[in-house]
Amino acid sequence: MKKYSITIAGGGSTFTPGIVLMLLEHQDRFPIRSIKFYDNDAERQKKIAQACAIVLKERAPQINFSYTTNPKEAFTDIDFVMAHIRVGKYAMREKDEKIPMRFGVLGQETCGPGGIAYGMRSIGAIIELIDYMEKYSPNAWMLNYSNPAAIVAEATRRLRPQSKIINICDMPIDIESKMARIAKLPNGRKDMVTRYYGLNHFGWWCDIRDKEGNDLMPQIKEHVKKYGYIVDEALKNATEASWNDTFSKAKDVFALDPDTLPNTYLKYYLFSDYVFAHDNRHPEHTRANEVMEHREKDVFSAAQEIIDKNTAVDCKFSSDTHASYIVDIAEAIARNKKTRMLLIVENQGAISNFDPTAMVEIPCLVGSNGYEKICIGEIPQFQKGLMEQQVSVEKLVVDAWITGSYQKLWQAITLSKTVPSASVAKQILDALIEANKDYWPELK
Ligand code: NAD
Ligand code: G6P
Ligand code: MN
Repeated sequence: MKKYSITIAGGGSTFTPGIVLMLLEHQDRFPIRSIKFYDNDAERQKKIAQACAIVLKERAPQINFSYTTNPKEAFTDIDFVMAHIRVGKYAMREKDEKIPMRFGVLGQETCGPGGIAYGMRSIGAIIELIDYMEKYSPNAWMLNYSNPAAIVAEATRRLRPQSKIINICDMPIDIESKMARIAKLPNGRKDMVTRYYGLNHFGWWCDIRDKEGNDLMPQIKEHVKKYGYIVDEALKNATEASWNDTFSKAKDVFALDPDTLPNTYLKYYLFSDYVFAHDNRHPEHTRANEVMEHREKDVFSAAQEIIDKNTAVDCKFSSDTHASYIVDIAEAIARNKKTRMLLIVENQGAISNFDPTAMVEIPCLVGSNGYEKICIGEIPQFQKGLMEQQVSVEKLVVDAWITGSYQKLWQAITLSKTVPSASVAKQILDALIEANKDYWPELK
């Protein structure tokens, strides 16, 4: 079997060790000859890379490993780029979450004004990664899960329409795993065939069946109606409280449209007053603080321990099992498997009554030519209305980035369902401009 060469962009990410372990677990179906890390923060990346070097030396010495901040080295002779960068890191995520709250609006990493601010930072960096990949390895594919994926996807559609980039998200994977537990499927979510439509972090399941074609929606709905996506105590105890709140709130999101099953992120748009009130009990301590105190601290101290002991035996890195969808996509492309997966792709009629130029999240068959979209047909008025508003926000952000237009970004923030008025939008925008001056293009 051919062996592949991979670059992980955002080598210093908290998710990198989990992805490396996950790749090692799947060597039988997706064999690797080389892994390279690339990051623009040498210090941060070095800590993760030195620890991963020890893991690889012990567990897969046949794989070449290196790490660099030099684009030419990083992007030469590769088949896949797995991209998970966070422009501005957690320091800026914290601002994205806290600034809108000063004006009575919820603060979230990918939704509302926070997500818009993050999008304005991410676009240029993702385009830069694509250009490096195309310059040094023109046949490579980029699997991008850097956020905010919706805005990044629209930007790449506009600015690099021919590029081999696939934008993906793990939230539906996680929710589908929970649905499979609710439906007691022995092999988990891979026993289900689902129909789903929407935008990234903004979608609905409209059909869920087992492999024999039996409808699983009624029993999953029965559960979600009572408990949201909280499945059982064991899973609840293994999850942070803030995520359990989100999974539980899906019950109320579901109540609004019991014909479909919702993505958890819809709570930010449909219950923005609730989210704000809930988070505003501790406005100085948002999810960014929680992640810095937990995931970032845990991953970096596990890395330091490996380096200090010079062995990864009994190490505290854990495999990011639900990230195995990244191997699924890479394998589907490498071996032309036509695997059915949810991707963020240009609509072009797949949702027949929706903007053909919108980047929508729908099922696709993934193979060596990229992907073929599954036709969804017409969607209901409620979803269509919400999606038209949200996709306009995403398109206006990209317009603002490309043209440097203050006006377009003010419109984008005003149009977000999380923001009550144009005057509040303007105040938030002015504060975000100040906070992001090292990252955003200058707006006029
Ligand atoms: P992190 O801050 O730990 O890691 C991000 C890394 O990217 C950092 O080491 C940083 O130095 C690096 N970076 C920033 N700008 C860069 C640039 N221009 N070029 C190269 N490297 C750069 O963040 P994290 O919490 O591990 O998350 C990483 C990313 O993955 C985020 O965008 C996050 O939103 C995303 N993510 C997406 C999904 C999904 O469903 N799509 C799931 C989980 C995480
Ligand atoms: C889900 C989403 C990602 C998002 C992540 C945030 O996995 O699909 O897009 O980045 O949640 O998780 P965090 O633990 O960083 O708050
Ligand atoms: Mn996501």
